[in-house]
Amino acid sequence: MPDKNTTELLPKEQEEYIDRLSDVLLYRYGTEHPKAFIHTYGCQQNVADSEKLKGMLKKAGCELTDDKEAADIIIFNTCAVREHAEDRVFGNVGALKALKRRRPSLLIALCGCMMEQEHIAEKIYRSFPYVGLVFGTHVIHRFPELLFNALTTGKRCIERGADDGKIYEGIPLHRDGSFKGWLPVMYGCDNFCTYCIVPYVRGRERSRNPEIIIEEARSMINAGYKEITLLGQNVNSYGKGMEEGVRFPQLLKGVADIEGDFWLSFMTSHPKDASRELIDVIADNAKISPHLHLPFQSGSDRILKLMNRHYDAEKYLDIVSYAKKRIPDLELTSDVIVGFPGETEEDFQCTLDLIEKVGFTSLFTFIYSPRVGTPAARLDDPYTHEDKAERMGRLLRLQEQISAGRTAAMVGKRMRVLIEEQAREGVLNARTHGGVVVEVQGDPSLIGSFAEAEVTEARNFILRGKLIR
Ligand code: SAH
Ligand code: SF4
Ligand code: F3S
Repeated sequence: MPDKNTTELLPKEQEEYIDRLSDVLLYRYGTEHPKAFIHTYGCQQNVADSEKLKGMLKKAGCELTDDKEAADIIIFNTCAVREHAEDRVFGNVGALKALKRRRPSLLIALCGCMMEQEHIAEKIYRSFPYVGLVFGTHVIHRFPELLFNALTTGKRCIERGADDGKIYEGIPLHRDGSFKGWLPVMYGCDNFCTYCIVPYVRGRERSRNPEIIIEEARSMINAGYKEITLLGQNVNSYGKGMEEGVRFPQLLKGVADIEGDFWLSFMTSHPKDASRELIDVIADNAKISPHLHLPFQSGSDRILKLMNRHYDAEKYLDIVSYAKKRIPDLELTSDVIVGFPGETEEDFQCTLDLIEKVGFTSLFTFIYSPRVGTPAARLDDPYTHEDKAERMGRLLRLQEQISAGRTAAMVGKRMRVLIEEQAREGVLNARTHGGVVVEVQGDPSLIGSFAEAEVTEARNFILRGKLIR
């Protein structure tokens, strides 16, 4: 069996395409520094991919812009996880037609998870003739070549489908943030939860070399990053099939051991692989955030089985109770799906039950959305959207009460926070080490630094506080 974690450097010819692009850009746009706009849909894996696209564009000479109207190149990096995400892309691409008519030199490109679904890529190609370039997640390392072809051949270019299963290192990177950064540790997913499209559009699971990850983390810390988030669809299965024998708990500890004042977090963990060893590493390392994002999806064992999740409610509660014991101030967040095909009122009650037992900080809640080609999409479902929306309403009300209780209990506490952004005039958003938002008054010059805050007030999901010298 071939090693599933084969690493290669960005192929030389792609570097050459980057060099050759400057003449092409000058010829097409009259400047070597045309403006590129990227909009990213979906999860952090897409955000991390967009940072690579931006890195390659910048290296080729482009400037990045937030203004779509002013852009010479527009890229939408798309998400396929739910129908709603896809609908937004179709709507937004449709709205670009007028822009392209006004400015024929504009190149519109679509990439990301949606493009790895054949029926979607074809629909886009057919419905939007002004889209000049379509490429999937598996060929992101060939972006310089694809951009070159789209700009020079005068033909529409579509490239998707073949996952070579390799990891490409050395792709230029432009990070969006200057003090919070993403660090992908693995790509793809092998879990095939029956509702989920991700394994089909992101390919097989593969892990980056631990030394490369630690080096990248070190350089981020030296560059002043205060928070690093290790990324993967299922970070706990990091290192599977790797000779070095480094698994996720060791990797996490390795990064935490780097010298410097920074916070370290990770997402996402799958309950079936969340080990006590992982919890111990979090508990024993002050830099690692006391936060677990541990999607449970459903509280019903019957539904969990149909979802192919490989755990039951008892196992979930067991790891949660160990984590609560070992990690004081633990913040637990989760994903939950309402209305999986055939989910009964009784199944749904199990979900509410689990939510009450755990007492999550907050939840990301989704109504089930059938995805073409996944096993769950073929199951019968007697329940209507209205049934599901009504259940969702009950779930949200329950979680709101729980969240409000949790934030109220934090009033009066003093804690270290990282100041992240300006919320409005005179008000800054900070976050606790566990990830809870605290609004504080202060000067924007504090953004990107740690501070001490005292919580003075709780408002459902967020806190208000004041900075202490
Ligand atoms: N790898 C992560 C999650 C990736 S997708 C994990 O396993 O936890 C993010 C969330 O979207 C999932 O946790 C799930 O709650 C939700 N999701 C995925 N497919 C969905 C679908 N078909 N309908 C509704 N929600 C879905
Ligand atoms: Fe989707 Fe399941 Fe993989 Fe998460 S673990 S990405 S839900 S298949
Ligand atoms: Fe969406 Fe792809 Fe992430 S489908 S959720 S952007 S992996």
